[in-house]
Amino acid sequence: RHPEKVDSVLSLMTMEEKVGQLNLLSSGFAETGPVLSDEYRDMIYESKLGGVFNAHTVEHTRELQRIAVEETRLGIPLLFAFDVIHGHRTIFPVPLGESATWDPELIKKASRVAAKEASAAGLHWTFTPMIDVSPDPRWGRIVESQGEDPLLNKLFGVARIEGFQGDDLSDVHTIMATAKHFAAYGEPNAGRDYHTVDISERRLREVHLPPFKAAVEADIRTFMTAFNEYDGVPATGSDFLFNQILRDEWGFDGFVVTDYTAIMEMMPHGYARDEAHAAELSINANVDMDMMSQIFLNELPGLVEEGVVHEEQVDMAVARILDMKFELGLFDDPYRYSDYDREAETIMRDDFLELALEVAQKSIVLLKNDDDLLPLAKDHDHVAVIGPLGDNQYDLLGSWSAAGEYPDNVTLLKGIEDMVSENTRVSFAEGAELDLEGDSRDGFDEALELARKADVVIMALGEGRHMSGEAASRTSMDLPGMQQELLEEIHATGTPVVMVLMAGRPLDIRWADEHIPSIVNAWYLGTRSGDAIASVLFGDHNPGGKLTFSWPHSVGQIPNYYYAKNTGRPKDPDERYTSKYIDAPNAPLYPFGYGISYTDYDYDNLQLSTDEIDDQGSLTVTVDVTNTGDVAGDEVVQLYTRKMVASVTQPIRQLRDFEKISLEPGETQTVTFDLQAEQLYYLDQQLDPVLEPGTVRVFVGPNVEETLEAEFEVR
Ligand code: IFM
Repeated sequence: RHPEKVDSVLSLMTMEEKVGQLNLLSSGFAETGPVLSDEYRDMIYESKLGGVFNAHTVEHTRELQRIAVEETRLGIPLLFAFDVIHGHRTIFPVPLGESATWDPELIKKASRVAAKEASAAGLHWTFTPMIDVSPDPRWGRIVESQGEDPLLNKLFGVARIEGFQGDDLSDVHTIMATAKHFAAYGEPNAGRDYHTVDISERRLREVHLPPFKAAVEADIRTFMTAFNEYDGVPATGSDFLFNQILRDEWGFDGFVVTDYTAIMEMMPHGYARDEAHAAELSINANVDMDMMSQIFLNELPGLVEEGVVHEEQVDMAVARILDMKFELGLFDDPYRYSDYDREAETIMRDDFLELALEVAQKSIVLLKNDDDLLPLAKDHDHVAVIGPLGDNQYDLLGSWSAAGEYPDNVTLLKGIEDMVSENTRVSFAEGAELDLEGDSRDGFDEALELARKADVVIMALGEGRHMSGEAASRTSMDLPGMQQELLEEIHATGTPVVMVLMAGRPLDIRWADEHIPSIVNAWYLGTRSGDAIASVLFGDHNPGGKLTFSWPHSVGQIPNYYYAKNTGRPKDPDERYTSKYIDAPNAPLYPFGYGISYTDYDYDNLQLSTDEIDDQGSLTVTVDVTNTGDVAGDEVVQLYTRKMVASVTQPIRQLRDFEKISLEPGETQTVTFDLQAEQLYYLDQQLDPVLEPGTVRVFVGPNVEETLEAEFEVR
């Protein structure tokens, strides 16, 4: 993008200075904030660093930048990066929760807020969005994704990119985004993090690549390699993924950073013989920046000298990184993102906190509400809040919390206390620990006593924030520790129970689904958690969030994503030899797209504008949606299709479009979808996109299961 400027710098650089630009190391964390070790600090003096991640705050970044620009021969500025995943200091819901809003525009705004805070704290670059389609909730990183659906990961991914990068990266309020992790990281064997990915190229292209392709089209500036192998080749050295697909097919011109020590990990993968071999494989795959291995730094000069790696290959990597430093304006003013006044004015602004509340409210999914137990009246004698997440600030941060500080978080208890009338007594007992191994009943008596005295119990149960996220795969979806026992005993007191579930993945809540009248899924909602949940519990906000994954009935069903194939023997409960379990339903506990509210919606009059199109054509799909209840609400109207017969079998449903609408009581809206043939293309046996003649069935409804149907023909 800035070829002359880049060349003018590149031509001055020694090989040692060049490989220094390809080296990315991390600041550490101390009580006082980020710190850089003496060893790494010396490396800045020696021009051996191109950037530092986990570095933030104006003070810290200014200090490091000063060394780079004032104490080195060429004065090339450093890049500062951080995992700003769902907010920088103002923490928004975890991405899986944000996706339950089904509102990419809203998440674009949240990302812009995060960009404003992060860029004011010295940052140029975030390692977000994570757009790994996540069909397996045992995999802990589902919490960082937008769930199991390719289209949603694509739309939210683009929204996040636009939010962080804006349309002008030289604007000091925007920062570079990173599409990660390329590729197929979301489908490791048995849901175990970093494990082998063994899927067909068809599945790779149909399910995992679309969000990444869209990221390139949205002009994302950086990509991150995945830890896993794909088809026997670790992604970080994959010619197929990076040269063939990312650069050649899609024309990506930004730079690629590895995940943490991923170059080095090609040795235990059994792919690279030694560090030199690993460096050669990665640089030749057009991977540009080495996070933490220091292998490029140590090995590339020798490899170039021996003629194993061409100097032009190294130059290309350096050029891509310098190019971004020019784009960010760092050569003009290396301190432009590190401004004390801006940092002080920007962090946790009131309007940011307001938006955090809105996003948190809209992320909440009401799973069950028998007999309209919710919303609760604000006036009660006694409300008991019970459970390890009831008065817990720490876990509300969720996985990755950037510069978030847990004392800022509003707990559920606080949110409820602020919400109810003055004469309502609110009491709290933890009841059980938040511990996978926990077996203590020590808190049970106190909790049971409170429950017996209360008019209603709000139970805040779930996982701790580090039970999902990186390296946090699980084989069980049970409520950790003694929480299930606590829930059952509190229920047995006879006091009505509302369960508020906080977790980074779906849990096995079959028992609760059968016995507990109201279940609210509240993820980890960040800074405004308690206010948001209380506003739903007491009716100030009518919940409208919907699941972006199929909530498994039990762990044995996993993976149970909705876009499955029909099989030759689809389930027939009366026929033994059909595709089903003999001890569990095929259907998930709650389907993809599901979420209820305090009102009801009626779907009617599904119409197609034509009953046939060709493979370049389009049609409109209309449906009338009516709010038949007493309160206003938001509804996500979802459109799925199925190509009934094709040269390659197609899923029984695929999400093609959706629209979020707001309806007053009694109001009807006609929702119109423009469906282009192009949206329905699939890959034929040669992996070429086609739409063959035949019937397409259209399904429209409030979730993937409760739909109206119509059909048209492709001629
Ligand atoms: O950005 C992350 C990545 O998602 C997982 N490994 C560490 C990186 C840097 O923190």
